[in-house]
Amino acid sequence: MWSATCANSAVTTVMCPATMRNGRLLRDRVGMAPGRIVDDRVGRHHSVPPMCVCRRRVGGQRDDLPFGDMADSGTLTGRRALVTGGASGIGRACAVRLAGAGADVVVVDRDAEGAKEVAASVGGTAVAVDLSDLDAVDALDLDVDVLVNNAGLQHVAPLHEFPVDRFSLILRLMLETPFRLVRSALPHMYGRGWGRIVNISSIHGVRASAYKSAYVTAKHGLEGLSKVIALEGAPHGVTSNCVNPAYVRTPLVENQIADQARAHGMSEDEVVERVMLAPAAVRRLIEPEEVAEAVAYLCSPAAASITGSSLVMDGGWSAH
Ligand SMILES: NC(=O)c1ccc[n+]([C@@H]2O[C@H](COP(=O)([O-])OP(=O)(O)OC[C@H]3O[C@@H](n4cnc5c(N)ncnc54)[C@H](O)[C@@H]3O)[C@@H](O)[C@H]2O)c1
Repeated sequence: MWSATCANSAVTTVMCPATMRNGRLLRDRVGMAPGRIVDDRVGRHHSVPPMCVCRRRVGGQRDDLPFGDMADSGTLTGRRALVTGGASGIGRACAVRLAGAGADVVVVDRDAEGAKEVAASVGGTAVAVDLSDLDAVDALDLDVDVLVNNAGLQHVAPLHEFPVDRFSLILRLMLETPFRLVRSALPHMYGRGWGRIVNISSIHGVRASAYKSAYVTAKHGLEGLSKVIALEGAPHGVTSNCVNPAYVRTPLVENQIADQARAHGMSEDEVVERVMLAPAAVRRLIEPEEVAEAVAYLCSPAAASITGSSLVMDGGWSAH
């Protein structure tokens, strides 16, 4: 069950079928505007309301986070933003946040239904495509002002057993596809003298973890690509940056928690506490809306001089 209260203290209680279904993630989401629809996927709601505060029980200490009231409505008015992997998790939060800043958002994902639903909730457009198909990627309309390279997946296996096709797929989807998208988008951005490329990298873009060879390799490559875009794009008003979160509460991580709990005979709480949060000083999972806030900042006028950077939001992981 999700319970929701609004900043003006109206209380709404809604059932979350996904939470009921898998029974493993307990969460309260506070601050959803009355009347907002919750769908049947974990962690999804249709839009970020004004003054949204999230509370959680799994994934570290209970904490309150204000979101939504920071929406800089209007700074992206007249801009078109394309978010890959926008049907879920971080991409979904980015689509909502950028739309909140005034952008006309294009949600690109292989999950056609999810993309349609997110696009409908933000008044944007959905494009269903498998982004590991490079011909399909090259055929996309990239006349956009903001490009968020976000789509990704994880595969965990020791190097000597790592499936070679998974390695190729991860590098294609998470490195070559961003290159192709940027290549297609830059002429439009150069023409307008303005553009924002935001690459959703990871703490694994700057740190390695065992058993994640393809993911770590792809993210490190993305860091390099982002810097080259920054150098070439600067004379044309185009910035390029990475955002580098540690573990974010999304389906990608929720699946890992469940897998590891099964593999190690631990509870899901123990996996989060003892494995995922072990190197972090801030002992909780990051919320997708926090990442979206960083993305929106990098697209805002305040960040015009920030390019070629990596905005690390890792709860102190890399401070060691
Ligand atoms: N969740 C985390 O802890 C975390 C941390 C750091 C970085 N990231 C990065 O954030 C990005 C988004 O991850 P998330 O956690 O929101 O995952 P997610 O699984 O919630 O969302 C990923 C989205 O990408 C889409 N996608 C996957 N393969 C695709 C393909 N071939 N074609 C089109 N769409 C495809 C999926 O359908 C999904 O909608 C990834 O690049 C991931 O590496 C995630």
